[in-house]
Amino acid sequence: MNVGIVGGTGPAGRALALRLATSGNSVVVGSRDPMRADAIVGELRELLGDRSGFLHAGSNAEAALSQIVVLATPWEGAVATAVDLKEQLRAKVLVSMVNALARIGGEFQALIPSRGSIAASVQGALPETLVTTGFQHLPAADLARIERNLDADVLVCSDSERGFLETKDLLSTVSGLNAVYAGSLASANSVEALTAVLLNVNVRYKTHVSMRLTGLSENG
Ligand SMILES: NC(=O)c1ccc[n+]([C@@H]2O[C@H](COP(=O)([O-])OP(=O)(O)OC[C@H]3O[C@@H](n4cnc5c(N)ncnc54)[C@H](OP(=O)(O)O)[C@@H]3O)[C@@H](O)[C@H]2O)c1
Repeated sequence: MNVGIVGGTGPAGRALALRLATSGNSVVVGSRDPMRADAIVGELRELLGDRSGFLHAGSNAEAALSQIVVLATPWEGAVATAVDLKEQLRAKVLVSMVNALARIGGEFQALIPSRGSIAASVQGALPETLVTTGFQHLPAADLARIERNLDADVLVCSDSERGFLETKDLLSTVSGLNAVYAGSLASANSVEALTAVLLNVNVRYKTHVSMRLTGLSENG
């Protein structure tokens, strides 16, 4: 697939770009500063070797022209960034991997944005875009370790079947990931907030956990 990552220069966006490009997708790493995207893509191409042709750099607006787009900014800038890209994102699926979190002392805590989640807030601001959740619970460190397969279910909330199916199509390009429909965007608050719980597990046990749901194997 042709995928754009808005805010693609951070640890999460870079790692996702590597993983998606390794999985045969053509990826545009977007940034507010295309020069920064250029520099990051240069670094990532060295890691990708003969698959480096799958990676491209651009502005966030150029990334948002892709067939499917991932939003990978910090929560504070997510809605404003998406609103700036309203035209490019019209009638398109936008997968939000954004979590609204704060680190209080040594602990991660979920913040509750307006409409309950960042994904629902973006959907409220962009009614003509099909916003979904995805990738919230995949640690950047694991996404970036492309020599290792991932092993995780990915909770996808969406108000539309098309949004879910296109997000599932994207996830199915990555070996070891399984898309699980997790309800409408009314449930995105739980998906985003769960990230704080998983990060606290990581801190306590000095690890990177991902999620697998039991009981899905026959129908999921
Ligand atoms: N890190 C992880 O393991 C992980 C895993 C799953 C989900 N997530 C989620 O993915 C998102 C990105 O995580 P990250 O660690 O990569 O974050 P980050 O490094 O703080 O930000 C990602 C990129 O967003 C852009 N950005 C920064 N502030 C912005 C603002 N106010 N408005 C618009 N763009 C801004 C920057 O790119 P430019 O300056 O180049 O524009 C930055 O490189 C977060 O919401 C996080 O909760 C992270």
